[in-house]
Amino acid sequence: MRTIPCVFLCVLYVAVSWAATIDIKPNVITVPVTRNLEIVCSLKRVNTPELSALFSLTLLQSNTMDEPKFTSLASVNTLDNKISTFSLDESATVVGLINNSGESFLRLTWTNPMSEKSGLYRCSFNGVGVLGNPLTLTSTGAVVVSVTDHDSLTDKMTAFENSSKALKAKFDILSDYTNNLHTNYNSLISRLSRSRDAAFYSTSSFNGSRYYLPRDVDVLQVTWAQATCELYGGHLAEIDSNEEFHFVRNFLVSKHLFDVVVTGANDEEKEGTWIYNRNKAPLKVFNWATTEPNSGRLANCQCFWKGGNWYMADARCVYFNNKPNDGYVYSYLCEVPESSTDV
Ligand SMILES: *[C@@H]1O[C@H](CO)[C@@H](O)[C@H](O)[C@H]1NC(C)=O
Ligand SMILES: *[C@@H]1O[C@H](CO)[C@@H](O)[C@H](O)[C@H]1NC(C)=O
Ligand SMILES: *[C@@H]1O[C@H](CO)[C@@H](O)[C@H](O)[C@H]1NC(C)=O
Repeated sequence: MRTIPCVFLCVLYVAVSWAATIDIKPNVITVPVTRNLEIVCSLKRVNTPELSALFSLTLLQSNTMDEPKFTSLASVNTLDNKISTFSLDESATVVGLINNSGESFLRLTWTNPMSEKSGLYRCSFNGVGVLGNPLTLTSTGAVVVSVTDHDSLTDKMTAFENSSKALKAKFDILSDYTNNLHTNYNSLISRLSRSRDAAFYSTSSFNGSRYYLPRDVDVLQVTWAQATCELYGGHLAEIDSNEEFHFVRNFLVSKHLFDVVVTGANDEEKEGTWIYNRNKAPLKVFNWATTEPNSGRLANCQCFWKGGNWYMADARCVYFNNKPNDGYVYSYLCEVPESSTDV
């Protein structure tokens, strides 16, 4: 029988094309650290003019790099567009399709890849060339394995144990410190609240605050008074509603102590322009006693005044009760929000 020399039809034409690719992520797997190994074969028809149609796409592996022997792992073909796999273990998932008008691909993913997943991988794209010749495009990539050996694992675990111990020790110190802080805080709060109750009369709660009137005052100095109120979490009383004015006035009437009780408002900066000490906002409530305010630049602090039936007046901001002045006894009033009265 005569052998007809094959020219086109019998030659299996194998070519490497940049447009037929294999993409491997990662190229180095670390056992047992690497979670996924993904191998993607892909081919875009627009980038492969030498190919007139793709029939099938196969992914192959060779465990050896020298003298590789490739065996098929998975393939997809145009006949039924089904994916065939060849004795893959269950940690593999494969998806893919052939699309002769777009992109064809085959993707194999392994979870927790072990060292037998290293080696060469090859994508083989089989079709027919523009001359009607069988044409196979291939693309090959490699995966190497880096095994975390027993000794280095042991070292890592020892280091980990060391650092957990160090962490635990630090945590214990911090924990002790926090407990001490808590104890000291509680003790501070209870001392503050005892000192406050020893030094002040207090009201019931009004609109979220309590008001504190000193039991005794030697020197009225408004900046000290403000600082004292702050010590207990408050400030000099700021009267900003008529209801608040009457609540406070009733308290002062019932105590009937001192002649002057200074609040947290002043006209220090501009005579006759009354503002709150803290936020410098204009005063909202004026319940002046008859003929008050009347002392001009001498008296720039607002007060409740016994001589005015506990309505408001202007008063000095500094006053020495123990020196013979005008015979008045000065005091002040704190307002402490209950949110800060765990004191
Ligand atoms: C094939 O590719 C074309 C062009 O990208 C696209 O419009 C079409 O939806 C694809 N077909 C399939 C089955 O993915
Ligand atoms: C762990 O701690 C031990 C003792 O403190 C020390 O000798 C050793 O070098 C440490 N190991 C590592 C890996 O840090
Ligand atoms: C109650 O307190 C709020 C917030 O400080 C204040 O805006 C409001 O005027 C107060 N109401 C009365 C009746 O004092």
